[in-house]
Amino acid sequence: MKDSIKRVAEDLMKSKYAIALTGAGISTESGIPDFRGPSGIWTRDPEAEKRAYRSYAKFQKDPKEYWRDRLSGPSLLGDLDKATPNAGHYALAELEGMGILKCIITQNIDNLHQKAGSKKVLDYHGNAFKLRCVSCGGRFESREFDLDRLLIEDQLPPLCQRCGGVLKSDIVHFHEPIPTDMAQQSLEEAGKCDLMLICGTSAVVYPFALLPRMAKERQLGKETILIEINAEPTPLTEEMISDYLVQGKTGQILPKIVEEVRRMQLFTKK
Ligand code: APR
Repeated sequence: MKDSIKRVAEDLMKSKYAIALTGAGISTESGIPDFRGPSGIWTRDPEAEKRAYRSYAKFQKDPKEYWRDRLSGPSLLGDLDKATPNAGHYALAELEGMGILKCIITQNIDNLHQKAGSKKVLDYHGNAFKLRCVSCGGRFESREFDLDRLLIEDQLPPLCQRCGGVLKSDIVHFHEPIPTDMAQQSLEEAGKCDLMLICGTSAVVYPFALLPRMAKERQLGKETILIEINAEPTPLTEEMISDYLVQGKTGQILPKIVEEVRRMQLFTKK
């Protein structure tokens, strides 16, 4: 493990534009379950996954009913308001602060990268603390709306303060298109990077899982290193899309990488 930590640190030191792609695995050490790991939400309750696949159609058919559902029970991921970043989130924020990591593209909706201090975060699957207008694409903080009052007064769905369009959760549901701005910016970042850290994702959900594949393809033109940090091998490992896997917990591995980069920086001018 020590050698792999050193190898990642060396690759990061050599990189000109490193980015990180993250998934639910980086938040499990904050007490938020992942989806497909051994005790994942979908692993434990396949029916819940089937229901999740129907959320977007439900919104399109009856936004009021969609909102009644959303406001009637707890989130599958637990109380995200109370969730706090773990050492893995802070390590990525530190790498950004050192000028090494330029961007995080996350599938997570928990806002923990932002809470950890990361500045450039693309919420590829949306953000649980935001609402998004389906007409103009405008995003608003959920706390700007008294959703419980709208429910009691039968005033759902919430309406866009800009164009009057219907608002849904910013969370991107299965079958829902990735918002154009996120898709565009993520493609640009994946196209620009010369190092991609892929942390805590099973890499089976598309189109997100295309990003490492695209970066790899471009490798012919330029050396792009793809490094997985994950509890288990994924299709990216098996298909040798990633150059190597550092197997283990992101909350343990990422801080060690930052420590090694700091040590190396002492001996080299970066
Ligand atoms: N450290 C490293 N890896 C971990 C850790 C950890 N502490 N905990 C779990 N993992 C690994 C799991 O073994 C698994 O390979 O992280 C991966 C998480 O995979 P998923 O549960 O599939 O989560 P993710 O890849 O983010 O799912 C993508 O699927 O359901 C949708 O929209 C949802 O954004 C989500 C998308």
